[in-house]
This record gives sequence, C-alpha cells and structure tokens, in this order.
Amino acid sequence: MARLKNNYESEGFYGIGVLYSQDAYNVGTLWRSAYILGASFIFTIDHKYKKQSSDVTKSWSKIPLFHYSSFEDFKNHLPFSTKLIGVELTDQATELKDFAHPQRAVYLLGAENTGIPPEIINECHDLISLPGAFSLNVAVTGSIVAHDRHAKIGGRLPTTGNH
Ligand SMILES: C[S@@+](CC[C@H](N)C(=O)[O-])C[C@H]1O[C@@H](n2cnc3c(N)ncnc32)[C@H](O)[C@@H]1O
Repeated sequence: MARLKNNYESEGFYGIGVLYSQDAYNVGTLWRSAYILGASFIFTIDHKYKKQSSDVTKSWSKIPLFHYSSFEDFKNHLPFSTKLIGVELTDQATELKDFAHPQRAVYLLGAENTGIPPEIINECHDLISLPGAFSLNVAVTGSIVAHDRHAKIGGRLPTTGNH
C-alpha cells in the first residue's frame, strides 16, 4: 500500500500575537515579520484588526488572523496540545538563547504600556525573555523570537511572490 511521504522540513507550527496592544503600527510590523518568518497564524486579543500600513505583506491575507475578545477566550481556543509561551522581561523566564522551542507553540507578547499582567504570566506554560535592562519594542521582540525559532528548529517559510 502506498504511504504518504512527509516532506516537511520540521513538524509543528506556531502562532504569535499581542495582548491588548496600544499601537497598531507595532502589530502590523510584528505580523509582517511573523508571516515572513514562518508563522502559521497571527492573532489579536481585545483589539480588533484594523488595516496596518506597516503590514506591507498583508499577512492577514496569507495566514489566518484570529481575534479573541479576551484572554479567557484566547486560552479556551488554544490549538490542541500546544504550549502557550509568554514573552516577557521577568526573572521567571528562560533566556531565549537557552530556550528549546516546542514543536507546537503560541507566543504571547504584552502591551506597550503594561506588558503581560502577572495573572496572565501565571497561565503560560513557559516564559522566555531577551537580555537587557530595559524593554525592547514589542514588534522587535516578537521578530527576534520568530527568527530564533526558525534558526533553531526550522520550518517552512513563504516563497517569493507578490507581497
Ligand atoms: C514595551 S514592552 C512593555 C513594557 C512595560 N512598560 C513594562 O514595563 O512591562 C512590550 C512587550 O514587549 C515584550 N518585550 C520587550 N522587551 C522584552 C524582553 N527583554 N524580553 C521579553 N519580552 C520583551 C514583552 O512581551 C512586553 O510585554
């Protein structure tokens, strides 16, 4: 009997988004990086999508964009057997350089003004941080995380086309 051949570079997928973002430009920049760096989906929590001039790839037209009305709504709809990874500058976090990305992951970033609140930090399966005494821009942080994941475990990237 013929068997399906698996040609994927790696197993798994990831999604990435921001909790309660205050800056649409950051969200568009993050989505652009996420799409280019192999994310399977992007999301917003609390703030609905509005067209972002910084998302020049129109990532929402290439990969699914999910909107969740609240963190509870988001948590209840996490994909099966998928880890929620909080990205935050906190002592509890593992430094990104030492982090082994799970095959199936959803990366959650915090709002520009408040970060990820402690009660939501406690809901994450893992936490990762980037070095530095001060917070980086949220879109820059998410882009570095997406690149780190790709560098460590690969995954398919979109091919060239009309962006
Ligand atoms: C500008 S920061 C929030 C800063 C906020 N004023 C605070 O003090 O918590 C926005 C988001 O970017 C991410 N971020 C920024 N720098 C980071 C770092 N060094 N490590 C991990 N996440 C970081 C986190 O997701 C954070 O919630």
